[in-house]
Amino acid sequence: MGELTVGVLGYGYWGSKHVRVLNGIPDVDVVVIENHIDRLAAAGAAFPGLMCMADLDKALEFVDAIVIATAASSHAAIARRCLEAGVHVMVEKPLTTCALEARGLITLAAERGLVLMVGHTFEYNAAVHVLRDLVDSGELGTIRYIDTARLNLGLYQADVNVMWDLAPHDISIVNYLLGSTPTHVSAWARSHVPTQVEDVAYLQLEYAEPDTRAYVHVSWLDPKKVRRVTVVGSEKMAVYNDVDPNEPIRIYDMGVDESQSLNPDRPVSYRVGDILSPRVSGPEPLLVEDEHFVDCVRRGLVPRSDGRSGLAVVAAIEAAERSAAAAGARVSIDTAPALVEHAA
Ligand SMILES: NC(=O)c1ccc[n+]([C@@H]2O[C@H](COP(=O)([O-])OP(=O)(O)OC[C@H]3O[C@@H](n4cnc5c(N)ncnc54)[C@H](O)[C@@H]3O)[C@@H](O)[C@H]2O)c1
Repeated sequence: MGELTVGVLGYGYWGSKHVRVLNGIPDVDVVVIENHIDRLAAAGAAFPGLMCMADLDKALEFVDAIVIATAASSHAAIARRCLEAGVHVMVEKPLTTCALEARGLITLAAERGLVLMVGHTFEYNAAVHVLRDLVDSGELGTIRYIDTARLNLGLYQADVNVMWDLAPHDISIVNYLLGSTPTHVSAWARSHVPTQVEDVAYLQLEYAEPDTRAYVHVSWLDPKKVRRVTVVGSEKMAVYNDVDPNEPIRIYDMGVDESQSLNPDRPVSYRVGDILSPRVSGPEPLLVEDEHFVDCVRRGLVPRSDGRSGLAVVAAIEAAERSAAAAGARVSIDTAPALVEHAA
């Protein structure tokens, strides 16, 4: 396999992790691109062998592919610049902050025969794969609903609200688990710190196939760190707790059934059985994700989390913002792809 030169744009909190991970992949040369001089120096100190550059346009002459790890609102314009320069692109989540721009990127990548991938990290996470196997195998039964909570005293962003920052994780997880995308959303969001953007939000996402719902709660203003996905099935329930490194997945053999009794005081009957915690092991999700990106570039494959997967998340959040502005009105989500199909 020949050498591949991959740029990482943005050596901040997340971009520095991409640099570490990509630097460990055989036959990949990493170029760090960062316009903040102290951060560029930090990259040079941490990775003495790597080429470090401050100017994106200059760097685009050297790289075959690029990972864009800058602020969310900058993704669309930067990704367009990179694709126009003939460079394969992975954009951190969210793909863009506007569905129209996401469609434009999908079309552009397809026209140029370039890979466009979005960094939906949890789709590369071993615990999420265990959850998906539980859903796919039918062990949980019919999915009644999915509930997610991603709460913390979080980093307020200057350019986007909490929905754009945190909900991409949960929506991409639920889409992946169900193998589907939501058709409608109702959302409530509010700022609780004067002059700041919305810091707490609740989204109700409706899926048609399978016919189910997901309830997503995201917050930057909560005293406790919670990273939880609960899948409630007709047979069993499963909880993915991302802050429990020992038992991230628990399967509860419990549920309720319509009561066979004619007694109106007993509308349902309960089943309570064992709680099981399957072993979850696998490489670091970011390594799986970055290896997948490199593989797609090398072999001309369509990524698992491609532009359309990014668009589905962006369209859902865009619709959620419209819903929240209309006091939780039910808004339809248009996930129709761009006119030209992805052909990378
Ligand atoms: N997948 C995940 O789990 C995950 C986790 C955290 C953050 N993220 C995403 O990663 C992205 C970056 O987040 P972060 O927290 O690392 O931000 P950050 O502010 O820590 O880092 C961004 C860096 O990009 C640099 N930058 C911006 N524009 C540039 C340009 N034109 N040229 C060169 N450098 C430029 C900034 O100087 C900064 O150092 C966001 O989209 C965020 O949503 C993803």
